[in-house]
Amino acid sequence: MSDTPLLTTPEAFREAYDRSVRDPEGFWAELASTFRWHKPWSRVLSWNFDRPEIRWFEGARLNITENCLDRHLETRGDQTAILWEPNDPSDPTRRYTYRALHTEVCRAANALKELGVRKGDRVCFYMPMVPELAIGVLACARIGAVHSVVFAGFSANALADRIQDAQCRLVICSDTNQRGAKAIPVKEVVDEALASGCPSVEHVLILRHTGDPVSMTAGRDLWWHDLVDRQEGDCPAEIMDAEDMLFILYTSGSTGKPKGVVHTCGGYMVYVWYTFLQVFQYRQGDLYFCTADIGWITGHSYIVYGPLLAGASVVMFEGVPTFPTPARFWDIIDKHGVHQFYTAPTAIRALMALGDEWVEGHDLSSLKVLGSVGEPINEEAWHWYHRHVGREKVPIVDTWWQTETGGILISPIPGATPMKPGYATFPLPGIQPCLVDNEGRLLEGPVAEGMLCFRFPWPGILRTTYGDHERCRTTYFSQFPGLYFSGDGARRDADGQYRIIGRVDDVINVSGHRIGTAEVENAINLHPEVVESAVVGYPHDIKGQGIYAYVITRHPVPDTAAFRKEVLAVVTKEIGPIAKPDRIQIVSGLPKTRSGKIMRRILRKIAAADFSGMGDTSTLLNPEIVEEIRAGAMKV
Ligand code: PRX
Repeated sequence: MSDTPLLTTPEAFREAYDRSVRDPEGFWAELASTFRWHKPWSRVLSWNFDRPEIRWFEGARLNITENCLDRHLETRGDQTAILWEPNDPSDPTRRYTYRALHTEVCRAANALKELGVRKGDRVCFYMPMVPELAIGVLACARIGAVHSVVFAGFSANALADRIQDAQCRLVICSDTNQRGAKAIPVKEVVDEALASGCPSVEHVLILRHTGDPVSMTAGRDLWWHDLVDRQEGDCPAEIMDAEDMLFILYTSGSTGKPKGVVHTCGGYMVYVWYTFLQVFQYRQGDLYFCTADIGWITGHSYIVYGPLLAGASVVMFEGVPTFPTPARFWDIIDKHGVHQFYTAPTAIRALMALGDEWVEGHDLSSLKVLGSVGEPINEEAWHWYHRHVGREKVPIVDTWWQTETGGILISPIPGATPMKPGYATFPLPGIQPCLVDNEGRLLEGPVAEGMLCFRFPWPGILRTTYGDHERCRTTYFSQFPGLYFSGDGARRDADGQYRIIGRVDDVINVSGHRIGTAEVENAINLHPEVVESAVVGYPHDIKGQGIYAYVITRHPVPDTAAFRKEVLAVVTKEIGPIAKPDRIQIVSGLPKTRSGKIMRRILRKIAAADFSGMGDTSTLLNPEIVEEIRAGAMKV
C-alpha cells in the first residue's frame, strides 16, 4: 500500500523504532488504520506475559481475506497475485490475477460451506505447493474456519497426530505429488493416517493434480473439481473478532509431541504485512519469490498473507532447487525477472557445493534484495550468496524469527540498517529483545551473550498452543518471568547488533565454557575442504561435555589424521582452543528433516556412543545416512 512509507534511511528507521518503543500502541494503531475493519478496536493492546494473555486490537472486527483480496480489486484487479512455477519446467506456469484469486477463493469458500464447515472449525491441509493450497487456506479464512497446514513430507502418523490434536473436520489433499524426480503418494498417506483413527474427519477433498489414480472412499471423499468448480465466485466474508483464531501451525519443540501454535486474525495481519514491506523493501510492480513451503510458517507469512496483504506479486514454486538441474532457482529468477528472493541457508549451501557454474550465465540483474531464513547462515554461504547470486551488489537480509513469532523480528532493512555476515542485526520497529543469563538476569549491553528474550509483545506473537494453554505458558513464558523466551541463544555486539548462535539446547558446556555449536561449525566450514558440518555435545568425563563434529568434505580425505589437525587449527584460530572438537567424524551426509534442518537428536545419540534405537526417523530426508554415521562413529 502506498500510504505506508518504506523505511529507506537510517534516520527513518531510528525514528520509527524510537516511536514504536515510546508509544507502541500509537505506532501499531496508525499502521493498522490502513486496513479495512468492520468495527474499530476499543483497545489497541492488553497483555500479561505471566498468564500469558495477549490481545491486540481488541473489539475490532475484520476479515483478513478482504484485506488480502477485495481491497485490491479496484486498484490492481488485473495485476498478478500468484505466479506458479511447476515442478517440471516444461509444464506451463499458471498466473492468477488478484481478481481471479478472489473468485477462486470464494468458490472454495462456498464449497467448504456446502460441506458444513463453519466458523471455528478446523481444516487440515496436506498438499504439495500448488495454487490450490493458497486458495484453500484463504477460503478457510474467508469463512472463519481455522486452517492447519501440515507439510506434505510428514509421515501418516505425524499427520494423524496433528489431525487429531486439532480435531479437524475436513482434510484437503492432492492425488499424488511430484517433487523433483520423486513421486509422493499424498492421498495414500492421508488414507493411512485416517485409517489409524481420526474420528473427527467427515470428508476428504482431493485435488486432481498429477492425474494418478487414487482410491476413493464413498461418502467421505470428494474431488475438488466436482465440488469447487460449480460454486459461485462470490462469497461474503465472515466477520471475525481481531482475536479470533486464524490458524494453527504445528511445530516441534525439544520435548514431547509437536505443539499447535495459534495465531489470530488482527495482530498477525498487521504484523506480517508491515514486516514484509520493510524487510523486502517491496515496491509496487516488484516480483517477489520465496522458496519456502506453505507447510511452514515462512510460507504462511511470506508467501500467502504478508505479500497478498501488501498487494504484491508472488512466485510460488512447486519443485526443489536441484530439479531438473541445480540451476532451477536461477532459471526462475532470470525467466521472470524476480526482484526479491527469499530462501534458506541449507539450500544455499547445497547449491554452493554443486559448483558455481550453475549460477553463472544467468541474468540476475533484476534482484534487489536477497533473504535468508530458518537457521544461522554461515559466513561462507553468506559470501557465496552475496557474490554469486547478488553479484556483490544486492543486500542480504538474514531474517531471524520463529513459528511462534508469526513474522520476522530481527533483520536488516536494506538501505535503513546495515548488514553484517552472520548477524540478523537489529530488531525491527516494535521489537524489544533482551538477553538474559541462566538465572534470568538481564544482561546489560551492548556487548552480551545469553538467552534471547523479548520484553514487550508485538502484534504477531503467538497467543496460545492449541488445546493446551499451560504448555504455552511453560514453554515460552515461565523460564524468565515477564519475558517471552525464544529458546535461542544470541550475542549482541558493540553496535547492538544481534548474532543468533542457535537453539539453547544446542549449546555445549565444555569445561564450564559455553560454546555454540553453530559457532564451531562456522569455523570448521572455513576449511576449504569442508562443505558442511554439524557439531553436538556428548558426555565427557573430565570436561562435562566434549565436542563432536560431523564433517562433510568436498573430496575423499586421503590422510584423515592430517585433515583433523587442520580442522583443529582452523577452530583454534577462529574461536580458541576450548572450542576444538574432541572428535571428528567424516561423513557423506547429515540426517536432515525435509525442511532442511539437521536432526541433532540422532547425532547427539551417536556422539554419546548410544547406538540403541534412533527413534522416529520418518521425517528425515535421508534416513539411510543414519546407519552410515553410526557405523563410522564406532571407528572414530
Ligand atoms: O533457532 C532459530 C532458527 O529457527 C528457529 C525457528 O524455527 P521455526 O519455528 O521452524 O521457524 C523457521 C522460520 C522462521 C529459531 O528458534 N532460526 C530462524 N531464523 C534464523 C534462525 N537461526 C539463525 N538465524 C536465522 N535467521
